[in-house]
Amino acid sequence: MIVYLNGAFLPAEKACLSPLDRGFLFGDGIYEVIPSYQGAFFLLDEHLERLRRSLREIRMPEPQPEKGWAAVLAELLERNPGGDRSVYLQLTRGSAPRDHAFPAAAAATEFAMVSPIAPLSVDLAERGFAAITLPDQRWGRCDIKSVALLPNVLARQHAVEQGAVEAILLRGGKLTEGAASNVFVVLGGAVVTPALGPEILPGITRRFLLDALRNEGWDCREEPVLESTLRSADEIWLTSSTKELLPVTVLDGRPVGTGRPGPMWGRALDVFQRARERSMATPATGAE
Ligand code: PDD
Repeated sequence: MIVYLNGAFLPAEKACLSPLDRGFLFGDGIYEVIPSYQGAFFLLDEHLERLRRSLREIRMPEPQPEKGWAAVLAELLERNPGGDRSVYLQLTRGSAPRDHAFPAAAAATEFAMVSPIAPLSVDLAERGFAAITLPDQRWGRCDIKSVALLPNVLARQHAVEQGAVEAILLRGGKLTEGAASNVFVVLGGAVVTPALGPEILPGITRRFLLDALRNEGWDCREEPVLESTLRSADEIWLTSSTKELLPVTVLDGRPVGTGRPGPMWGRALDVFQRARERSMATPATGAE
């Protein structure tokens, strides 16, 4: 695997970082995960826009690679040929003697790598996925895509130990999001997902799905989802850049709706994938 580190492309085993890196010491950094299909990025501009927003929110100047991020990430993809892949891009406040306050002068650390996107197996698409609920124990700025993910790690591990793929988080009796996904519920004919705010990540897939469904006249609402609503939903879906749209068919050991992936999920996935193909057929602006 070839990775990108601070301006260079090199084999992963040759990439070295200082133990004084603030990403390592404090989790002082942010990241993006950007999907690509057949060698082309999907929603790259939107991901770079969110990257900039995260940097602004943590008061970190944007590192500006000479070629620009789009060219760096495209080159990384070319150097790791294969099927559908995601690019992970992490920026930290760099390496400096350990002190919580920002260092007076430190160059940001820029790191990127490529991972395969596993296709959804037919078997799993027919059965759907199990999820569990857990209290949301994260901080008050979950809208920042921070690399400090310990509560998310613990929540996902808890889910895996229960034979589930995701932990769905609840705060104050309301749904927030998954450990690494946004959550949608289907109620009657309506598709509902929590509104944006500091308690959830503004998911790129969430936004794209909402826009695609609304364009086709679906009733989509962004409003609070009570725990009781989640538990009585006809369908529950998860969205993320690496998973697109997954149906949750078992929640805390109980069936969701019929216990099979719902009809709305199948239709929504079709709308999503058609919109993705259209969007990828339109040349990207390359705007940075
Ligand atoms: N995670 N919420 C959280 C907490 C996430 O970590 C993610 C994605 C999402 C979905 O956002 P998007 O649609 O922009 O991928 C929501 C990535 C994939 C990860 O950490 O690997």
